Amino acid sequence: MSDIQQTIKVVFGDGTTVEMPILKASIGENVIDMRTLGKYGVWSYDPAFLSTAACESKITFIDGDKGQLFYRGYPIEQLAEHSTHLEGAYLLLHGELPNKEQKEKFETAIKYHTMVNDQLIKLFSGFRRDAHPMAMLTGVMGALSAFYPDAFDFKNLDSREIAIHRLIAKMPTVTAMCYRYTKGLPFMYPRNDLDYSSNFLYMMFATPCEEYKVNPVITKAMDRIFLLHADHEQNASTSTVRVAGSSGTHPFAAVAAGVACLWGPSHGGANEAVLRMLEEIGSEDKVDEYIEGVKNKKYRLMGFGHRVYKNMDPRASIIRKTCYEVLDALGKHDDPIFKLAMKLEKYALSDPYFIDKKLYPNVDFYSGIILRAIGIPLEMFTTIFALARVVGWLAQWKEMITEPDLKISRPRQLYTGYTSRDYVEINKRK
Ligand code: CMC
Repeated sequence: MSDIQQTIKVVFGDGTTVEMPILKASIGENVIDMRTLGKYGVWSYDPAFLSTAACESKITFIDGDKGQLFYRGYPIEQLAEHSTHLEGAYLLLHGELPNKEQKEKFETAIKYHTMVNDQLIKLFSGFRRDAHPMAMLTGVMGALSAFYPDAFDFKNLDSREIAIHRLIAKMPTVTAMCYRYTKGLPFMYPRNDLDYSSNFLYMMFATPCEEYKVNPVITKAMDRIFLLHADHEQNASTSTVRVAGSSGTHPFAAVAAGVACLWGPSHGGANEAVLRMLEEIGSEDKVDEYIEGVKNKKYRLMGFGHRVYKNMDPRASIIRKTCYEVLDALGKHDDPIFKLAMKLEKYALSDPYFIDKKLYPNVDFYSGIILRAIGIPLEMFTTIFALARVVGWLAQWKEMITEPDLKISRPRQLYTGYTSRDYVEINKRK
């Protein structure tokens, strides 16, 4: 690397020169270390973080131009082929894939914490039956912090690990409770003889009076959806968890903040928005008209485009295959909504408007179709994303709170409001 690449100089009008180092990434963009800039009376301005690295991280890397995603250096395609969601979770949290003994220990630790305190049932009864599951999930995850005051002691390794295990273990239980509550169905206690994904499907769909058999194709699809959504670098909800966590707040409360951020249609709410869009289009013959509406900026094509990927989202390629497997297994290949989705995908992939803007289908385009085929209602889609992403939130939170020089996140602003106003003068005019 040349000298010019290693530092950058900013020269102010009065001749003052600030030289800032360029920190080298192991892969991807290097960053200008601007931490000293504030001392010179200016701040960098980058709303929506279009060119800003907010932290240093060793967990997940995305090459948006090539359409690649790596968890701790492993390509997502290899992990999706060979690993379960919990193996991926261990990798994200600990930096290495587990050996046999570590895997068993980790899975047992998660199973041991799947139940929630029975008091939580009373909390649920305070919600309206038609409450959005993400509203309930946000509230309940925050409320769970009241049950585990010991998690505040997260500088202690054991407390921190238990908090992480509890959160990963209880997310499926609480998510299923959100669904059962809206349907007026009895809550199902977790079954620890089942694997993570089968247990989630059991808590969602079983009834106390009948035997419930999990379809292995559905379990595999569910587990893959979890693994593919487990982490995605410094996205909006992960950054929210980091910012919330930087104040030293309770980890369950930081996760609740992440759930709240994920809810939005530009982020985790997109899988729900995809299906709503497909329902709004209604039939294959309306696709042309809808595409025209998108080009005229009347609508956004939900499930297309990404802030980071300017090539095919690698998760989308994997999950597209899973989508076919699930529809085959359930005999739903002729589902009109699926056919409509495929027509839309074909149009968008061949239309110059979408090609020029590099708008490819993202993971949410296909995950929504799978979830619908499994029988999960639209409103629940983003809760499934949250269930999976809790792993990434926790891996990133853990990385952050164990940094020796952790500081609270506190951005500055470009103030363009009034400089000074006289309250007494204004009152006289009344
Ligand atoms: N449909 C139509 N046009 C689009 C779309 C879309 N989905 N996404 C971006 N554009 C256009 C946009 O109109 C703009 O055009 P112009 O240059 O003429 O003004 C250009 O592409 C750039 O758009 P942008 O909003 O500046 O791009 P962004 O990087 O800020 O937005 C995004 C990224 C994901 C919010 C956006 O692509 C979008 O709204 N997509 C639909 C929602 C969606 O599927 N979100 C899930 C993302 S994957 C899950 C996750 O990681 O959270």
